[in-house]
Amino acid sequence: MKIVKSIHDMQNVIKQEKINGKIIGFVPTMGYLHDGHLSLIKRAREESEIVVVSIFVNPLQFGPNEDFDRYPRDFERDKKLAEEAGADVLFCPETTDMYPDKPVVTVSVNRRTDALCGKSRIGHFDGVATVLTKLFNIISPDKAFFGLKDAQQVAVVKGLVDDFNFPVTIIGCETKREQDGLAMSSRNMYLTEEERKEAHHLYQSLQKAQDWLLDCDSGETEEKMIKYLEEQTDGIVEYCKILSYPELLPPETDDEKLIIAVSVRFSKARLIDNVIIDNIFEKKGSGEEKCSVH
Ligand code: PAF
Repeated sequence: MKIVKSIHDMQNVIKQEKINGKIIGFVPTMGYLHDGHLSLIKRAREESEIVVVSIFVNPLQFGPNEDFDRYPRDFERDKKLAEEAGADVLFCPETTDMYPDKPVVTVSVNRRTDALCGKSRIGHFDGVATVLTKLFNIISPDKAFFGLKDAQQVAVVKGLVDDFNFPVTIIGCETKREQDGLAMSSRNMYLTEEERKEAHHLYQSLQKAQDWLLDCDSGETEEKMIKYLEEQTDGIVEYCKILSYPELLPPETDDEKLIIAVSVRFSKARLIDNVIIDNIFEKKGSGEEKCSVH
């Protein structure tokens, strides 16, 4: 596996691979790789000829009170894991190379960010869209692989690629989970032992919500999810939301694709999870009212 540190060298590597007619698969990450990232790299390996993994903790997507400084970093471990998973190139630029100065131009996301994490993480998705615009320009991938744990990010990235006509196919990949259902995340390491035991209830709440939705409307289901999470965890429930996907608007028709999404803040980690489902309302019976929130 090649380690490439400068943008200039990365562009030269890609230029040569493109001359050779290779299909480039790209997995952007902020490092501290876990099995979720590794499954993206493996999928990219299966579906492309050259696999580029980037590791860059992008300052632009962190708010002033967020965890940029303490975001976990372990380059030697990441290098080993990325290579074992099948990466051909590891691109790890310095912040000074990516942002030598205050940017003259950044990307501003206009839709799909008023809900879920975008609502409280002001500017986060602008930062994500800006860094991905740079990375797509540097790496010119044919396909880029993203985990659906960050489903809002996938919705924004699809919008970015469509609106700016990047010739790249965005592939959203299923969330990888621990045995108890907790979605894998670099931030799980911040959980205390007690919080780790409680954290699987996020996934449980999503499972239960799918059943509740058969009998309750989305507002009632959201309330039941909040109640469940407040009872089962000591975390602060930031949101439980049922929205259309990928637009992330209140559902209007019975045949929309939906996302059920949840965010809970523990002492040092804010966890998110979601499920995306087709046509739940088609399954709705017309029987007795079973929904009870209190
Ligand atoms: O999902 C992430 O790790 C980041 O948001 C990404 C896509 C690498 C952009 O910095």
